[in-house]
Amino acid sequence: MRLVVGITGGSGAVYALGLLQALGELGVRREVVVSRAGELVLAHECGTDLAELAGYADVLHDNADIAASVASGSHKTDGMVIVPCSMKTLAAVAHGYSESLLTRAADVTIKERRRLVVVPRETPLSPLHLENMLKLSRLGAVVLPPSPAFYQRPESLADVVKFVVGKILDQLGLEHALCRRWEGAEP
Ligand SMILES: Cc1cc2nc3c(=O)[nH]c(=O)nc-3n(C[C@H](O)[C@H](O)[C@H](O)COP(=O)(O)O)c2cc1C
Repeated sequence: MRLVVGITGGSGAVYALGLLQALGELGVRREVVVSRAGELVLAHECGTDLAELAGYADVLHDNADIAASVASGSHKTDGMVIVPCSMKTLAAVAHGYSESLLTRAADVTIKERRRLVVVPRETPLSPLHLENMLKLSRLGAVVLPPSPAFYQRPESLADVVKFVVGKILDQLGLEHALCRRWEGAEP
């Protein structure tokens, strides 16, 4: 399996690192694109720079390189995840405004009818944010807010991250044991 992973300047860069690590362990080829704001948030929240991020990727593309492989539908992938997805990138993708490699790769994913999972992060949400999410959902994208489930009884932030990463992997049809599955209430 080959996936494009876009990282933007929404809060929650740790979800991107968790997903990239899990995909690597599953043998999925990861082509990663990070926006400038994504880079800043990654450094601020995780202390991770681009050199370290490269260790989580099979290919780390330059977001300004609009001629990179993932800018074309002829380059085969199985889909794209944008995690975290800022409201700016959400708006760009919802309107086909492909001013960067990351947004172009998302546009390609939609036009080729491939799987697109966006993990939007903002609170509260304005009508604009909600409309953009609805637009993408109607186009077939999966809108997956990183909302923790307390029925999992998380004991740490690591548990919360694992749960969200597990939900993303579920949408990609990838098997994992990152969270417990609900099998009914315990007696
Ligand atoms: C520390 C930090 C946290 C941010 N968190 C969010 C967020 O959760 N959601 C959001 O939409 N924007 C957030 N922003 C603002 C975006 O990074 C900003 O709108 C940026 O232009 C997004 O660009 P991009 O979509 O190209 O990454 C944050 C910025 C910083 C510096």
